[in-house]
Amino acid sequence: MKNIVFLGAPGAGKGTQSEFIIKKYGIIQISTGDMLRAAVKAGSPLGKVAKEYMDNGKLVTDEIIIGLMKERLAQPDCKNGFILDGFPRTLAQAKSLDIMLQEDMKTEITHIISLEVPDEYIVERITGRRTSPVTGKIYHVKYNPPAVEGMAEDGKTPLIQRDDDKEETVKKRLEVFHEQADALKSYYKSTGKLFIVDGTKAPDTVFAEIEEILK
Ligand code: AP5
Repeated sequence: MKNIVFLGAPGAGKGTQSEFIIKKYGIIQISTGDMLRAAVKAGSPLGKVAKEYMDNGKLVTDEIIIGLMKERLAQPDCKNGFILDGFPRTLAQAKSLDIMLQEDMKTEITHIISLEVPDEYIVERITGRRTSPVTGKIYHVKYNPPAVEGMAEDGKTPLIQRDDDKEETVKKRLEVFHEQADALKSYYKSTGKLFIVDGTKAPDTVFAEIEEILK
C-alpha cells in the first residue's frame, strides 16, 4: 500500500510527478488545488470563497480544507492508496490528516516526498505552465511542450493558463509556502518516512529517484 504525501513549493513538480506515479502504480491523486479550481469553475459557495484566497496567493482556511479532505478520503477509491498533492500545507492540516487516517481509515502515510526546487526556478516554471482542458495533463511551453503548439491532445482545444499563475501571485504563493515549509518538514522528519528529492533535474530523472524511494 502506498499512501504518499508530496511536499514542495508551487511549481516544484508535484502534479507532474503525480502523473508518473498514477501511470506506474495505478493509485489515485488527490489535489486540493484541483478540487478548489473545480469548485471555482462550478461557481459553488466553496468556490466563491476559495477564489478570493487563491487569486491573492493565500491559503484557503484550514477549516475549509480539512472538511473537504475528510469528505474526499471517505470515498472508496482511497482505500487502495493515494497521492496527496498540495495537502497538508500547514501543521494543523498535517495533524488532522494523521487523525483522519488513523481513526476513520485505520491506515497511515507511507512516504512523504519533499520535492526541493530553489525559488529562482519557480517563476519561469509557473509562468510557462499550461494545462490541457481535455486530459488535465500539465505542459510547459519550454520544458514539456505539447505536440501542437498551444493546443491540447486533440490538436484543436487551446491549452489553458491558471488564474493564479501570474508572476505577482506566484511570488506571494512562494512567500506563503516558506512560512509553513520548515514546520511541516520537521513534523514529518520524526516519522522516518520523509524523503528529500532534488526537483531541479529533468522530470524523468526526478521520477527515477522517486521510483527508488517507492520500491
Ligand atoms: P495548488 O494547485 O496545490 O498549487 P501549488 O502547490 O502552488 O502547486 P502547483 O500546482 O503550482 O505546482 P506543482 O508542484 O504541482 O508543479 P507542476 O507539476 O504543475 O494550490 C493552488 C492554491 O489553492 C493555493 O495557492 C491555495 O490558495 C489553495 N490551496 C490548495 N491546497 C491548499 C491547502 N492544502 N490549504 C490551503 N489552501 C490550499 O509543474 C509546474 C511547471 O513546471 C509545469 O509547467 C511543468 O511542466 C514544469 N515542470 C515540472 N517538473 C519539471 C522539471 N523537473 N523540470 C522542468 N520543468 C518542470
